[in-house]
Amino acid sequence: MNFSLTEEHLMIRDAARDFAQTELLPGVIERDNKQEFPDGLVRKMGEVGFLGLMVDPKYGGSGMDAISYVLVMEELSKIDASASVMVSVNNSLVCYGLENYGNEEQKQKYLTKLARGEQIGAFCLSEPEAGSDATSQATTAEDKGDYYLLNGTKNWITNGGRAGVYLVIAQTDKAKGHRGINAFILEKGMEGFHIGPKEDKLGIRGSDTHTLQFNDVKVPKENRIGEDGFGFKFAMKTLSGGRIGIAAQALGIASGAYELALKYSKERKAFGTEICNHQAIAFKLADMITEITAARHLVMKCAWDKDQGNNYDVSSAMAKLYASKVAMEQTIEAVQIHGGNGFVKEYHVERLMRDAKITQIYEGTSEIQKIVISRSVIKG
Ligand code: CAA
Repeated sequence: MNFSLTEEHLMIRDAARDFAQTELLPGVIERDNKQEFPDGLVRKMGEVGFLGLMVDPKYGGSGMDAISYVLVMEELSKIDASASVMVSVNNSLVCYGLENYGNEEQKQKYLTKLARGEQIGAFCLSEPEAGSDATSQATTAEDKGDYYLLNGTKNWITNGGRAGVYLVIAQTDKAKGHRGINAFILEKGMEGFHIGPKEDKLGIRGSDTHTLQFNDVKVPKENRIGEDGFGFKFAMKTLSGGRIGIAAQALGIASGAYELALKYSKERKAFGTEICNHQAIAFKLADMITEITAARHLVMKCAWDKDQGNNYDVSSAMAKLYASKVAMEQTIEAVQIHGGNGFVKEYHVERLMRDAKITQIYEGTSEIQKIVISRSVIKG
């Protein structure tokens, strides 16, 4: 067993750390306040290859492995989880979905631009009545011969307003249950495709989250991904990889908060000494770093499983379940260590605490991860 990172892994980790410090840190509080993320910053993330990290270079990607991906995700998330969710959705859900299940024509037309960051993608599964219960899709796609007619609503869509390409899951034959679900590629601007107002959120406020409405949108037949009825499995397979990215995001939020708390505790004095010298704080730091290290091992394990060609449905669910719990609990501790300053925006930890919560909700709530894990345990 080898726990060391390669030279290449260390280089990409350091590059991401540097990018986060120089490009993301300035303005992160303002972006959170204003709920915006400038196009120029998205372009820069594309230029350094963060938006197509694992995509084959022949489609414009960086051709890296999943370990590199989680290292980048952790570093970006320490500073700005709104930036990293954009990276995660574009990489693990949209680019991965197209590269692995799209046909050559679809890859040529959409994947290359997405991998280079010339366009951003969105993954559209959740609905007002189908968040966790993903088979209960109310969005319909009626087969009209050479096109499908799409009607319905999608909720909480990351990159919803900014995206150029949307992978949309819809029901084509209700009687067939999950086998009557398909995935389609939609483009912004298609007639009948409306983007609703931006959500006003607790956390990841810089990210762009919208409701989408489809009113008789004509989607060409060639925009269906895979065989008829493949849409639900497409979503499940893609989400397993998405959970690796969100687990790494949660790890980054936790480790970012820990690093801030450690630094603060070595500077702040109370009762005649730096507060890290009080056992009440020192023991918190010990618990934090122990739990973060355990979370990092789970995150690395599921990324390693992906790189080895192993099944990662369960290891990614475990990593997301645990890392998101650690992110929530340890960001609360980081605020506590900062005392009154922790409640103030300029110290960053209150934002990390707000950002942590979504990691227990999106790409499957913690309860969904427990369903995936427990079913596998019971099945044996
Ligand atoms: N890979 C391949 N196939 C899979 C699979 C996987 N990981 N998981 C399930 N399947 C298959 C099953 O084998 C089964 O197929 P067969 O009948 O042919 O055997 C079929 O899919 C149905 O499976 P289940 O009976 O297990 O389905 P279920 O209705 O019980 O649901 C679930 C399972 C795990 C609860 C699933 O609904 C789920 O993951 N829900 C959560 C959805 C989710 O994560 N939403 C997040 C939205 S995206 C997002 O948040 C993005 C963003 O913006 C950041």
